[in-house]
Amino acid sequence: MRAALCKTLTGPDDIVIEELPDPVAGPGEAVIRVGAAALNFLDTLAVRGKYQFKPPMPFSPASEFAGRVESVGDGVTAVKVGDRVFGSAGHGAAREKMVVKAATLMPIPAGVSDEVAAGVTVTYGTGLHGLKDRGHLQPGENCVILGASGGAGLAAVELAKLMGARVIACASTDEKLAICKQHGADALINYSSGDLKEQIRAATDGQGADVVYDCVGDRFAEPAIRAMNWGGRYLVIGFAAGEIPRIPLNLLLLKSCSLVGVFWGAHVTRNPAALKSSLTELMGWVAEGKLKPHVHKIFPLAETGAAIRELDRRASTGKVIIKP
Ligand SMILES: NC(=O)c1ccc[n+]([C@@H]2O[C@H](COP(=O)([O-])OP(=O)(O)OC[C@H]3O[C@@H](n4cnc5c(N)ncnc54)[C@H](OP(=O)(O)O)[C@@H]3O)[C@@H](O)[C@H]2O)c1
Repeated sequence: MRAALCKTLTGPDDIVIEELPDPVAGPGEAVIRVGAAALNFLDTLAVRGKYQFKPPMPFSPASEFAGRVESVGDGVTAVKVGDRVFGSAGHGAAREKMVVKAATLMPIPAGVSDEVAAGVTVTYGTGLHGLKDRGHLQPGENCVILGASGGAGLAAVELAKLMGARVIACASTDEKLAICKQHGADALINYSSGDLKEQIRAATDGQGADVVYDCVGDRFAEPAIRAMNWGGRYLVIGFAAGEIPRIPLNLLLLKSCSLVGVFWGAHVTRNPAALKSSLTELMGWVAEGKLKPHVHKIFPLAETGAAIRELDRRASTGKVIIKP
């Protein structure tokens, strides 16, 4: 089977395609014929050795996958050969076949394609955990999303809307904002220029944000906190714009607001039952058409490096998919 391999931690340009022996499922494992793999921001870091978790070398990028069960190891009862399944494994999906723990696999409902199913786990899982469990977002509240057109951001736009919030999407170009509008955003802010605090105040009729879902950090975080409503919740999702911001604590006192960390991967590791129940709920909404995951572009396996560069270049919206 063919696999995209990161062998040098020198970035996406040095990813190579190699022929490897077909994998064999051990006890409790399943071999998946990958129909589609999905990238996340972490892949841009992992291929440079900059992600907090370091996969053993060499490794295939892409944590999320969808495909068919090709074989199962001893003791596997959760899935059988031929089942369509999706999930996330941390890394290793940019290859034709991968081995995963069978207990983590989730079924793909009829009518949902591999390309769509592959990109649901991390972004929508984080969105639901962040907005519901950590942010306690309520119907009618103003929810501001920074980096709203990216994978995590666009999932949060759709979920916040589904939860009955008024969604204010913030992104760097009008084209990206137009996609946020298509996915349910009520108000749009182009944060490439202007005063973000004033823009958020204006977009919320002076009330400020009840919940901020921050995928970018850096220079955007402090003005967004300064534009929070009394009792607001600021969700720390990620730092795609680069710097980890330092926040003056007096701002929290003055607004009686909370800074709330969100770490989906650690949350579901500690609570596997929550992973299964949330993915069942999310994929149900996808099958019903209540969520419409946006696929930016599909790349062949041979162009895995170019696919990662698409995120690097800040050029993608929604999900970037690799099709082995
Ligand atoms: N906490 C968690 O559990 C969790 C889970 C998933 C993801 N995350 C984090 O969420 C963030 C977004 O992840 P993602 O997979 O959605 O990434 P993505 O699809 O690449 O989106 C990142 C967004 O950030 C914005 N951005 C601003 N400055 C950027 C820069 N210098 N380079 C790249 N993008 C920049 C871009 O939008 P504009 O051009 O509009 O600014 C882009 O849409 C990452 O930091 C990731 O680690 C955290």
